Amino acid sequence: MTTSESVQETLGLDFPHPSKPRVLLAASGSVAAIKFESLCRSFSEWAEVRAVATKASLHFIDRTSLPSDIILHTDDDEWSTWKKIGDEVLHIELRKWADIMVIAPLSANTLAKIAGGLCDNLLTCIVRAWDYSKPLFVAPAMNTFMWNNPFTSRHLETINLLACVYWKEQTENDMWQASPVNAKKKMVTKQEDNAKFR
Ligand SMILES: Cc1cc2nc3c(=O)[nH]c(=O)nc-3n(C[C@H](O)[C@H](O)[C@H](O)COP(=O)(O)O)c2cc1C
Repeated sequence: MTTSESVQETLGLDFPHPSKPRVLLAASGSVAAIKFESLCRSFSEWAEVRAVATKASLHFIDRTSLPSDIILHTDDDEWSTWKKIGDEVLHIELRKWADIMVIAPLSANTLAKIAGGLCDNLLTCIVRAWDYSKPLFVAPAMNTFMWNNPFTSRHLETINLLACVYWKEQTENDMWQASPVNAKKKMVTKQEDNAKFR
């Protein structure tokens, strides 16, 4: 899966842009964010990528290792780019720019915030302002104790109403692994479900 054609076929998506799709790739504070750099590299093989990271995720991401052409946006940028009324607001601009948003990894905390409609940082403001005619993928990643907490399924059910698609594949180390094939399967189901909410 190295060309934009194969990814579009795999995901069954119809991108409005003739060139590369624009993917907003966001990381929250799961230890799985140590894989964020490699995820950025994989996506940038076929997409135009912009990255968003929560404050906690920055403990796991080595910013210097990210591909040089990928801009990483943080909460500080949200406020440093806005000075006065009339200035562009970063979370709105990113929401408009992106064709797809992928939150990988999605921490228990950010999952709960999204499910509750909270928007106290750049990532959750983008999600709160998201245009739900565009896909939003999430890859929850947490310790099994957190995963098995009843709040997890409750929150996932809630965000499913927002047309989010989530997937979790357990590996040996219980780390998330992106799986576009599974995502496609769930996406098809999701598109059918979404008709009920439109
Ligand atoms: C070393 C370490 C590893 C963590 N791993 C996870 C994890 O895998 N999944 C998770 O949901 N939270 C994990 N946490 C907790 C989150 O970092 C914490 O809830 C944080 O507030 C998440 O912030 P965010 O959702 O704004 O990124 C971990 C915390 C630490 C200190």
